[in-house]
Amino acid sequence: MNSIQIQGGVALQGKVRIQGSKNAALPILAATLLTKETSCIHNCPRIADVHRMVSLLRSLGCQVVWGEDGLRVNALEVCGRDMQGEAITGMRSSLCLLGALIGRCGQVEMEYPGGCVIGKRPIDLHLGALEQMGVCFICEDGKLKGRAEALHGADIRLPFPSVGATENILLAAVAAEGDTRIMGAAMEPEVTELVRYLTGCGARIEGAGTDTLKIQGGQTLYGTDFRICSDRIVAGTYLFACIAAGGSVLLEDAPVKQLEAVLQTAQEMGAGLCVAKEGIYVQAPRRPKSLSHIKTAPYPGFPTDLQSMALAVMTVGDGQSRIEETIFENRFRAAKELKAMGADITLLDERTVLVRGVEKLSGTAVEARELRGGAALVIAGLMAEGTTRVNGCSYIYRGYENICKDLRELGARIVSA
Ligand code: EPZ
Repeated sequence: MNSIQIQGGVALQGKVRIQGSKNAALPILAATLLTKETSCIHNCPRIADVHRMVSLLRSLGCQVVWGEDGLRVNALEVCGRDMQGEAITGMRSSLCLLGALIGRCGQVEMEYPGGCVIGKRPIDLHLGALEQMGVCFICEDGKLKGRAEALHGADIRLPFPSVGATENILLAAVAAEGDTRIMGAAMEPEVTELVRYLTGCGARIEGAGTDTLKIQGGQTLYGTDFRICSDRIVAGTYLFACIAAGGSVLLEDAPVKQLEAVLQTAQEMGAGLCVAKEGIYVQAPRRPKSLSHIKTAPYPGFPTDLQSMALAVMTVGDGQSRIEETIFENRFRAAKELKAMGADITLLDERTVLVRGVEKLSGTAVEARELRGGAALVIAGLMAEGTTRVNGCSYIYRGYENICKDLRELGARIVSA
C-alpha cells in the first residue's frame, strides 16, 4: 500500500479537521525527557514520524502509552543509552533528542542524523551552539557522541534562524547551570509551542515568538498536560488543494494566526477566504491567478514546507510565476514529476523555477521523493484530467495522518492502493 490513486477533476466540498502539528509534537516529545514526571500530550498526530519518535523514547527507557486523545509519557527511567537504527539516520526530527539527552543525561550517542533529498541538512549550528554550553562532540564510526562535564548557559548568536538548532539549544538550556540567551532564534510557531510546553513544566523562558530567547537554567521541571496546536502546513496543504481542485471547504481548527503569509498568497491566487471561530472557509477561484513571485523565508515569511504545494497550484495558473526557495538547496524535486503531468516548469537555477500556467494537467504515474513534494503531487492529481498514481507514499504518511480519508471526505476520488 505504498501508492495513492486519484481520479482527478472533482471539486472539493465540505469540512476537514486539521490534525495536530508534526513539527511541534516532535520536539515536545523530546522535551518530555527533561522531567521525571508524567506529561500528557494531547492532539498528537498519529503519523510515522511520531511513531518513530515514540519507539526511540521507549528505547531510551521511557514509558509511553497512547491514550484516547494523545500520549502519556514518563521519562523517570531514562538513561543515556545510545540510539540505534533507521529511526535515527532516516529521520531528521530525531535530532531534537540531541539537546534533550544532553540536558537530561549530560551525554548523547546517536548515529549521525542523515540528510535527505531536500538538502544536506548540516548540523553545524546545533553542534557549535552546544559546544558553547560546554558540550564536547566527537564523531567516530558514523556515530555522533557528545558529553558535557558541566553544562552551562551561554550567549548564543545564530547566523541563521535554524528551527532545529533553536530547539536543541532550548532543550539543553533549561537544564544548564545559569542563563542562556539565543539571539537570531527561529520564530516558527513550533518553537513557540516548545517554549509553551517547557514553561508549562516550570521552565523560565522569556521572548517567545521573538528572535531573542532568554532561558533561566536549572529549574526543576514537572509533568504537565499539554495540547499540541493544529498543523499549519497540513492546513496550508488542504488550502492549496482546494484552490487547485476547485470547490469550497472549511479548514476546521486551522491555526489562523500562524498562516498570515499563506493566506495572503492564497488571496493573491484568487481564493475567497473567511476566517471564523471554527476555522477558515475557502472558496476556490475558477482558475488560480499566477503570482509573479513567490519567495520562501523563515517565519513569518512564506513557509518552505508549502513551496511545493504553491508550485503545484501555479502549474495551472492564468499566466507566469517565479518561485524562489531560499531555505533548502534542493526543494524542487516535485517539478520533474509535475512536468510528466504536463506542467510547464523551467529550473532557472537550483533555487528558482519559472512556471507557465497550462489549461490542464494529465494524470499519470509519479514518484514522491520526500514528504511535502509528495503531498504536492497529490494536489496535482486532484486537478489533473484522468487518473494519477502517486508512488512512494510512505514519505507522505510521515506527516499526514489521514490524507486520503481527509480528501475523500471532501469529495475527492482518492484511495491508497
Ligand atoms: C525544520 O527543519 C522542519 N522540520 C522542516 O520541516 C522545515 O522545513 C524547516 O524547519 C524550516 O522551517 C522539523 O521541525 C522536524 P532548519 P530543520 O534548521 O530544523 C540550514 C517538514 O516537511 N542549517 O531551520 O532541519 C539547513 O541546511 C520538514 O516537516 C545549517 O546550515 O530546519 C537549511 O538550509 C522539512 N546548519 C536551513 O538551515 C545547521 O546546523 C533551514 O534549516 C542547521 C540548519
